Amino acid sequence: MFQPIDIAGLHCPNNVFLAPLAGYTNYPFRKMCMRLGAGLTFTEMVSCKGLSYGNEETKKLLYCGTESPKAAQIFGNDPAIMRAACESEALAPFDLIDINMGCPVPKVVKNGEGSALLENLPLAEKVIAACVKSGKRISVKFRIGVNGNKIAREFARLCEGAGACMITVHGRLREQVYAGEPDYAEIAAAKQAVSIPVIANGGIFSKADAEAMMGRTGADGVMIARAAMYDPKIFCKILGTADVPLLELFLNELEETKALYGEKFACVFMRKMAAFYTRGMRGAAEWKRKLFSAATTEEVAALAKEIF
Ligand SMILES: Cc1cc2nc3c(=O)[nH]c(=O)nc-3n(C[C@H](O)[C@H](O)[C@H](O)COP(=O)(O)O)c2cc1C
Repeated sequence: MFQPIDIAGLHCPNNVFLAPLAGYTNYPFRKMCMRLGAGLTFTEMVSCKGLSYGNEETKKLLYCGTESPKAAQIFGNDPAIMRAACESEALAPFDLIDINMGCPVPKVVKNGEGSALLENLPLAEKVIAACVKSGKRISVKFRIGVNGNKIAREFARLCEGAGACMITVHGRLREQVYAGEPDYAEIAAAKQAVSIPVIANGGIFSKADAEAMMGRTGADGVMIARAAMYDPKIFCKILGTADVPLLELFLNELEETKALYGEKFACVFMRKMAAFYTRGMRGAAEWKRKLFSAATTEEVAALAKEIF
């Protein structure tokens, strides 16, 4: 069930992917998930407008290493700007570029981006086709619909017809945000409608969830989001890959985050990650309180040594 997968000639060691997560899937986090077995990882969504303005903060989101395979995710709604982004140097290192057509955040939707494209099919098609013209591998991640209107099958066909080489279907409507059971039947309908690889996403928090998702949808792979944020070892648990002690993972992530993004960011970010990793542990509330009063990465590392 969990096995290697090829996406338009891109070999991925397995079909259990790390989702794009705004504010979380920075390079050190993606690298850690790759080490734990993730078959493909995605940057968080990156604004094509931001890239076109040469925004330094936007470029930082695309920091990456030489590991392969790796994917970036972009968002926007202007076909020419999106194609230019795909052709840009900033995205050149990535093996695959994913277009976000699922984001429910009001600021994004108001701009006609993310899940707003599920309500404007002609524009969605133009955006995908323009990005495909860049010559890069283009995939699309989308929700099953908006306002109760389920369109996964139709949208999957649109993506394939416009030249996408893979789709990821998040089995929830926009208005569900992240709540509720994923709609397995809608994901299955998308899978049956196309011949490109279909990755299923939503509500996978254990190996059993991943197996149920594969079994009930017939998808070619799964994508893990919040479960990886709380416990990156979910990849080992699903894939049976070698376990790595949590402390080693954490201290590595801390060092790399500090080296890339600086002391201040690393302190705030890694406090939050440590708090996630303590979920379910005895005394988690007290550890969390101590973590959030740590003022330097040194203090965070010292606490991590006590906790993990
Ligand atoms: C904090 C957070 C940030 C997210 N950022 C992105 C993003 O940048 N791009 C995207 O396509 N989806 C994003 N998502 C959605 C996830 O990729 C995923 O589709 C969703 O969480 C459902 O999967 P899950 O039930 O396994 O969490 C985000 C979700 C969360 C919770």
